[in-house]
Amino acid sequence: MTAKIIDGTKIAADVREEIRAGVKAMQERYGYTPGLATVLVGEDPASQSYVGMKQRMCQELGIRSIGHTLPADATQEEVEGLVRELNADPDVNGILVQLPLPGHLEEEPVLNSIDLEKDVDGFHPVNIGRLAMKGREPLFIPCTPHGVMVLLERSGVKISGANAVVVGRSNIVGLPVAMLLQKANATVSICHSRTQDLAAYTRNADILIAAIGRAQMLTGDMIKPGATVIDVGVNRVEDPSAKRGYRLVGDVNYEEALEVAGAITPVPGGVGPMTIAMLMKNTLRAAEIALAGRERVAS
Ligand code: GUN
Repeated sequence: MTAKIIDGTKIAADVREEIRAGVKAMQERYGYTPGLATVLVGEDPASQSYVGMKQRMCQELGIRSIGHTLPADATQEEVEGLVRELNADPDVNGILVQLPLPGHLEEEPVLNSIDLEKDVDGFHPVNIGRLAMKGREPLFIPCTPHGVMVLLERSGVKISGANAVVVGRSNIVGLPVAMLLQKANATVSICHSRTQDLAAYTRNADILIAAIGRAQMLTGDMIKPGATVIDVGVNRVEDPSAKRGYRLVGDVNYEEALEVAGAITPVPGGVGPMTIAMLMKNTLRAAEIALAGRERVAS
C-alpha cells in the first residue's frame, strides 16, 4: 500500500486565497486593513528567517506588517513595554512575539501582557485555558495545531471517535493539538520522552501526530496500517549531496511510513506552509474583532 500524500502546500494556498479575499472584502466594505506587529528579540538566524517569512506573507495578502526588532540584551521591561505600546496602537490588530526569547527573559509574563484580542499566536493563558475547557472557545487557536486540524478536515479524515496519538507535549504544538483533537471528539493519548513502550500507543493510532523534534524517530513498524500520519517535525540531517550540506526531514521515517499509512504529510510541504497561513487567518480575525468593537462603540 502507498499512502495518499496530504499536500500542505496546496491546502495552505487555498487557505491563503480565502484570506486574501477576506482582506479585500474588509478593505472595500470598511476601508480597513488588518495589521500584524512582529517582535523579534535578538539575532537568532532561524527566528529571523521565520519572522521574515511572516512579514512577506502579510505583504502578499494585503495585510500591513509592522516589524519591531529589539537587541539580544533587551530587558524584560523593554519587551513588555513594547507589547504594551502595541496593545494601545489601534493600527495593530495582532501581536506576535517570536519564540524562543533569549535565555535571560521570562516568556510567561511577556505572553500574559499581550492583549487577549490581539493574541494571534493563541498562546495567552486565557486562550489556552479556553481551549482546554469543555464548552469554551478561545478567541484564537495556536497556528501550527490549527493548521494540523485544517489538514485533517480538508483531507476528509474522520476525527470523531478516532484514536489519536500525539507524540510530543510542547506548549506550541503537542499540548494544544491534543486539546483540539479532544474537542473534535477523538480519544487522545499524549506520549513523550518518558512514555514506556511508545510503539504500543502509536500502533493503535488512527491519527498519529509527530511533534517530537527528533529526525525520523517514528519508523514504519510503529504505524497502524491505514493510519493518517501528520508529521510536524522539521529536522536538519547532514547530506553532502545537497547544495546546503543538509536536508530537512520530519519526525517520521517517511519512506517506511509511506508503505504502511493510509495518508501522510511530507516534510517539507506538509504542516509547514499551514502555520503561516493560520497566522494570517488569525490576523484577519483580530481585525474583524477590532471592527466589531468599533461598531459597538459607535452605536
Ligand atoms: N516559534 C516557533 N513556533 C512559533 C510560533 O508559532 N509562534 C511564535 N511566536 N514563535 C514560534
